[in-house]
Amino acid sequence: MEPHSLAHLKQLAREVAPIAELFKREPQRAAAFTIDAAGIHADFSRQCVSHELLKALCEVAHHVGVPQKIASLFAGDIMNVTEGRPALHTALRADPHSSPEAAWAHNELERALLCAERLRADETVEAIVNIGIGGSHLGPAMVTRALRQFHDGPLVRFVSNVDGADFEAAVHDLNPLTTVFIVSSKTMTTSETMHNAERAQRWLTGAGVDWNTRFYAATAAPQVAISRGFLPDNCFAFADWVGGRFSVSSVIGLPIMCAIGAQGFRDFLRGMSDMDNHVRSSEVENNLAVVHALMWFAHCALHDMDSVAVVPYSSDMELLPSFLQQLFMESNGKGVRVDGEPSHAGSGPVVWGTSGTNGQHAYFQYLHQGVSRIPVEFISSVVPMSHDSDAHDVLIANLIAQSEALAVGATHADPHRSFPGNRPSSVVFIESVNAQSLGALLALYEHSAAVQGWMLGVNSFDQFGVELGKTLARNIEGHIRGESAVSSETLTHPLLEWFLSQKKK
Ligand code: F6P
Repeated sequence: MEPHSLAHLKQLAREVAPIAELFKREPQRAAAFTIDAAGIHADFSRQCVSHELLKALCEVAHHVGVPQKIASLFAGDIMNVTEGRPALHTALRADPHSSPEAAWAHNELERALLCAERLRADETVEAIVNIGIGGSHLGPAMVTRALRQFHDGPLVRFVSNVDGADFEAAVHDLNPLTTVFIVSSKTMTTSETMHNAERAQRWLTGAGVDWNTRFYAATAAPQVAISRGFLPDNCFAFADWVGGRFSVSSVIGLPIMCAIGAQGFRDFLRGMSDMDNHVRSSEVENNLAVVHALMWFAHCALHDMDSVAVVPYSSDMELLPSFLQQLFMESNGKGVRVDGEPSHAGSGPVVWGTSGTNGQHAYFQYLHQGVSRIPVEFISSVVPMSHDSDAHDVLIANLIAQSEALAVGATHADPHRSFPGNRPSSVVFIESVNAQSLGALLALYEHSAAVQGWMLGVNSFDQFGVELGKTLARNIEGHIRGESAVSSETLTHPLLEWFLSQKKK
């Protein structure tokens, strides 16, 4: 058998002893499977991975050229091959002197930071509403929520859903005279965002406000924004070599800057850069992002565990699962490899989850005793993010207990009360939920998504899979409005006609 074949890796995976047995055989296993980097402590010892399997996975990583691909990513080579452009998000937090791209990004960042400081100091600005979706929403919303302790700027709210209820809920108690909007959109064409932006324009105009004086744009298409009436000075640009889901460190972070200030955002970028430096300079075997990616790759491609529950034991980080869902599923949810051949190693995991301990009272029953084995990624901070350190001890005790219960299980004469165990989990600790630690954590996941993509052989940087639905929605929208007609041959025509008949009632 070819040493690097998927079949061989699967064979090694089948041979891995149960997790409890692995610990018995190797009392130092926790230390052996732990990596500390850029302030992050990651313990992979409760994964279904032996030394032999990890060694083989590292050999595969070398075989597929992960070290060279990491170097190419940082060098700005064309990594997004289907769209013919680099994936240079690391330039957003690199030394501005390191490349022309970093210098350009830094310039736009400084403009955005100045703007944020102006808005924070402006007494006529009570609220900032970010309008954006996907990568132009999830990162800023998650980080702003996570760093609430450092939020000393105006109120920041987020509108993403085209459902008018989202906009109305966001502005219902705001004053149009003291509210500004940030339209965050890489393309400035996304239907939901444009719809909500027009809604916001009408809301301001209705109150007699010159909407464009209260509108800001974070975009890779500033000319489109300007053609729509945005003031050029209010537009902050990022380059098309930044993917939407990799854009949190670009000017897309403007709402975060408004919330925590320029210094706070710089700290966030420093954390990302710390992780970038670790990933760039570490050997495969000690590289946190690579080993993290290999663990997730092993779940899906080798153990047939197709989903991962991301469970932050941190109320402040409760939006992390949604952010990671887009990062991993939009990046690697593909069935065709870069070479055009079908992917046989899967599409990476379905990513889902909610904060712990809440999840324990919802889906953990399934995690412990359900038929499918679902790996868990536990994430928390050493330092409590509240004044109640006793509560933090309880929180962490729960995290550790859950990880042990999943791994070890429990036998009982009554099968209903028996826990099979051997259910893998990772434990990731940051020191505290501050800007720098969070930056390092997010950069870790960005790099892990890319490494998983290389292991799977797919291009992690395109997202053609979201296009078909968008095109169909445009046609159906035209039909509902009576402006065009969807063919009666289509399978959705009856549903559409039923909806129209109900709507007319
Ligand atoms: O869902 C598809 C997508 O293109 C994402 O990749 C992106 O983050 C999101 O839509 C928003 O796009 P934009 O920033 O261009 O409005």
